[in-house]
Amino acid sequence: MHLARKLSLIFVLLGAAVLAGQILFELEHEIRVAGEDARADHRLLGRALSGGVTAAWSRGGRDQALELLDRTNRFQQQVVVRWVWVDGQPTQDVPRIPAPRLQALDRVGFLSFELDDGPPQLISYVPVAVNGRAGAIEISESILSHGEVALRGVRSVAVSSALLGGLFLIATVLIGRRLIGEPVQSLVQLAQQVEIGKLDARASLERNDELGLLAAAMNKMARGRQEANARLAQETAAKLEAQESARHADRLSTVGKLAAGVAHELGTPLNVVDGRARMIAAGSVAGPAAQNSARIISEQVSTMIRIIRQLLDFARRRPPKREAQPLQPLVARTLDLLRPLALRRSVTLHSEVGPQVQALVDPDGICQVLTNLVMNSIQAMERPGQVRIRALEESRAPPPHLSGAPRRWLRIEVEDEGPGIRPEIRPHIFEPFFTTKEVGEGTGLGLFVSYGIIQDHGGWIAVEPDRAVGARLQIYLPA
Ligand SMILES: Nc1ncnc2c1ncn2[C@@H]1O[C@H](COP(=O)(O)OP(=O)(O)OP(=O)(O)O)[C@@H](O)[C@H]1O
Ligand SMILES: [Mg+2]
Repeated sequence: MHLARKLSLIFVLLGAAVLAGQILFELEHEIRVAGEDARADHRLLGRALSGGVTAAWSRGGRDQALELLDRTNRFQQQVVVRWVWVDGQPTQDVPRIPAPRLQALDRVGFLSFELDDGPPQLISYVPVAVNGRAGAIEISESILSHGEVALRGVRSVAVSSALLGGLFLIATVLIGRRLIGEPVQSLVQLAQQVEIGKLDARASLERNDELGLLAAAMNKMARGRQEANARLAQETAAKLEAQESARHADRLSTVGKLAAGVAHELGTPLNVVDGRARMIAAGSVAGPAAQNSARIISEQVSTMIRIIRQLLDFARRRPPKREAQPLQPLVARTLDLLRPLALRRSVTLHSEVGPQVQALVDPDGICQVLTNLVMNSIQAMERPGQVRIRALEESRAPPPHLSGAPRRWLRIEVEDEGPGIRPEIRPHIFEPFFTTKEVGEGTGLGLFVSYGIIQDHGGWIAVEPDRAVGARLQIYLPA
């Protein structure tokens, strides 16, 4: 049932109850007044008749007196008058009220009773003494019963309520829709719009009642959410911009380091080549010494070619051709290639990667990364020991520079038993040309190139900090 209709039903019932109370009260009051009026009429009529009856009795006896009363009855129908004996010894003319109850009649001069057995009646007595005996004129009149009063009241209430109900129903349909139905409808619409994200929706209820207050509160809520969303969008845009400019600065610094590295790494062999070539050209070396110089030149050129090839490989690296495949064979292939070199340093290589581990990777790229990491481990170990590769899945958020929601990652770990990576060099190991190795043993490009490949896969490489023994590098790839 709609609110307006419910309200009007409640009002109708309340109105009917109030109306019924009032009508019953008024009817009771009327009945009481009418009873008192009837009693006064009976008294007047009785007094008026008593003189006539006494005179008729003394003139013509009982018959003449009764004749007078008969005439009175014929003259009007509302009340019935009768002659009765009230001395308690009558054989005829018995009063309807038993004589003992009429003992005080002579003293008070008038008595009146309401009779409820049968149709309700008002019966009054006025004393008339005849020939020394106590007689009376009995006046009876039918009156309304209380039941009838109630029935009348109920009937009248029912009619009024029906009228009132009809009126309220019409008022409900006409006014209720305007006062309650339409405003509530527009509030519901506002709530639905906000729910689907249309935060610029507003309810236009210019009213001073509770619904107006509710509309204002809901509008305020929608506006609040709209402003909060706008703020959030602004903050996100600013954050993205900051990230982008940080990345740009990062790229610039990488380029700078790369250029410096290239200049430095190529500078030394070029100086050697230059010096040796000049010596040969000036004829200051000859014979085996010239041959030795030529050999040194060739070595230095090889070094430069290697550096340049690595840089070219890095610069021209194509987007990874990623395929879902088991990781185990890729690891096995890498370790097989490196095993002779490892054995020379008494290092054993172990794969703990199970056959069920799947990776979405470019196989060549991943083998190159694993080769670089395992090579570093082998080179770091000064004593016999083991290098292990394992793979596991992990749920986590990416590091801040990648940004993104938490998700599942495949983590490939390369772990060795060497001296570990000192904390002070950890921030630099992925930089181009950063190396701690002897000249000719490392160029410092291995981790730099590896990081680029893993980044192309949407992942990153981390160094596990604070290890007691050895180093553990972790490659994260989207699972
Ligand atoms: N497993 C490891 N244990 C100890 N130090 C390591 C390890 N891996 C890397 N490093 C440190 O990080 C530096 C950078 O490594 P990276 O592989 O980039 O260059 P490199 O090995 O020195 O030279 P390249 O790989 O170009 O031959 C290394 O010189 C070394 O100091
Ligand atoms: Mg290396």
